[in-house]
Amino acid sequence: MFSTKLNLAEKIYSAFNSSFPGCEVGKDDIMSLLTSPPDKAMGDLAMPCFKFAKSLRTSPVNISNTLASALQDIEGIKVESVNGYLNVFIDRNDFFKKTAEKILTQKKDYGKTETGKGKTIVLDYSSPNVAKPFHVGHLGTTVIGHSLKKLFTFAGYNCIGVNHLGDWGTQFGKLIVAYKKWGDEKKVEEGGIDELVALYVKFHEEAEKDPALADQARAHFAALERKEPEETALWEKFIDISIKEYKKTYEQLDIEFDYYTGESFYSDKMPAVIEDMKAKNLLTLNEGASVVELEEYGMPPCLILKTDGATLYPTRDISAALYRKNTFDFHKCIYVTSAAQSLHFAQWFRVMALMGYDWYEDLVHVPYGTVSINGEKLATRTGNVVLLKDLFATATEKAADIMAEKNPALAGNKETAEAVGIGAVIFYYLSANKIRDINFVMQDALNFDGNTGPYAQYTYARTCSIASKAEEMGIKPTLSGDVCEDEFVLIKTLSVFPDMIADAIREYEPSIITRYILDICADFNRFYHNCQILSAEDDETKKRRLALTLCTKYTLASALELICMKHPEKI
Ligand code: ARG
Repeated sequence: MFSTKLNLAEKIYSAFNSSFPGCEVGKDDIMSLLTSPPDKAMGDLAMPCFKFAKSLRTSPVNISNTLASALQDIEGIKVESVNGYLNVFIDRNDFFKKTAEKILTQKKDYGKTETGKGKTIVLDYSSPNVAKPFHVGHLGTTVIGHSLKKLFTFAGYNCIGVNHLGDWGTQFGKLIVAYKKWGDEKKVEEGGIDELVALYVKFHEEAEKDPALADQARAHFAALERKEPEETALWEKFIDISIKEYKKTYEQLDIEFDYYTGESFYSDKMPAVIEDMKAKNLLTLNEGASVVELEEYGMPPCLILKTDGATLYPTRDISAALYRKNTFDFHKCIYVTSAAQSLHFAQWFRVMALMGYDWYEDLVHVPYGTVSINGEKLATRTGNVVLLKDLFATATEKAADIMAEKNPALAGNKETAEAVGIGAVIFYYLSANKIRDINFVMQDALNFDGNTGPYAQYTYARTCSIASKAEEMGIKPTLSGDVCEDEFVLIKTLSVFPDMIADAIREYEPSIITRYILDICADFNRFYHNCQILSAEDDETKKRRLALTLCTKYTLASALELICMKHPEKI
């Protein structure tokens, strides 16, 4: 039985192998060449064969002729060869019936697979730095990371989400000094991270005038490293305050982590790792610091220990990777951070290789581009930061205004306004390839008529309202009759959901799902405008179109969820 593009690609793949034994045509090649031609006279799917001519040493026409005859007897499709193109025509009614049947049976599980059964994926994402602002720069790691977690879970992997908090380093000595000198317990409790940031800024201002402060900070950090009770208690307090605040944002996004094991968690695990490096003769002294030389690999040395013996960011990442491998026996460990950290990851991944851990290839860095807002670059140092909570609040407010105008019945519905406002931010962010730099413009993100989150949520709500109206009217879905062009185009789009998930996973690219959602919305809205659904001329058509609407509803709900978007039934 023929169902999706993937299935067809597999059939073509076997046709290649039986007709041209020993050929090296890959399934990925076929998948990328197989597309929907603009003119339906050229088939529902078509594949040009020109690319294969050289390696198969024959003409494209001969290739398409040969493949077409090998593919003659497959139920549900008709294959033609035209001037080097393989044009595939699908039996529309049959295709519709089989695809819709599958979606209606599987409902919210449509698209789920067991590809990753028995395999564990560790995802290290979000990971803000304690007592520092949780800002728009963290949006990428947070939503890309969580979306990847959902995608891998959908594909049957066992996923573990780790928040690798930046909770260690000399800055905590500074913060302890500032808190003891100028901190006010009540103010800190109320002001949260903002207050801690203010104290940190004050430390730097005062330290310019009084160099003794820096020595005190060092002494306090040393005490923290020795686990002295006073310093430890303060440090824990800073962490608690910070996590409490991050969790408010995570709740808005429906994100939960399995572990909040920050950098400090690996402190007692580092000495053994350093011994291991020494034993393997990897450490050399470089201006007093211990490093692993990487010149041979075209990279600067990876810093392991500072001159004073203190450990560094890479040391902690190496220890964390070893700990995770031993604890979770992961199939892959994925790190989502800004592209600014690409060198850091390349360096320490290489160190793992030099240490002889052949599973270093299972460590994956997923980098993403920078965000500016209304054209302005964001920089923590110059104070030009936009906090994530403020961005979400503004988006929610604006969404509430627009909704009050569009649908007065929903005015004042805070939950929906938040779903739409935050959804708009996420959707906008996840629309472009992750590595591209993004300029966030609120007005564009919230445009209900553009290719935006609100437009996608609105389309979903439309499917819900048709579904409930049908229920009221007592109409039940069935799958018979002749599908029209708009119905066929839509079901064809819905049929590739599993392929989209596979692509997004392979490329670590949630934007594939975002753009796919827009395809579904465009096809559904065209169908909605061109075709009568519940008021169609005959019962069979009514029921079939209702079925198609339900298929769209299930697929859209899952797809939106995969990119961390809420999907209210009414907006
Ligand atoms: N805390 C770091 C930052 O805000 C990100 C940590 C990423 N994860 C890691 N294992 N290095 O830049």
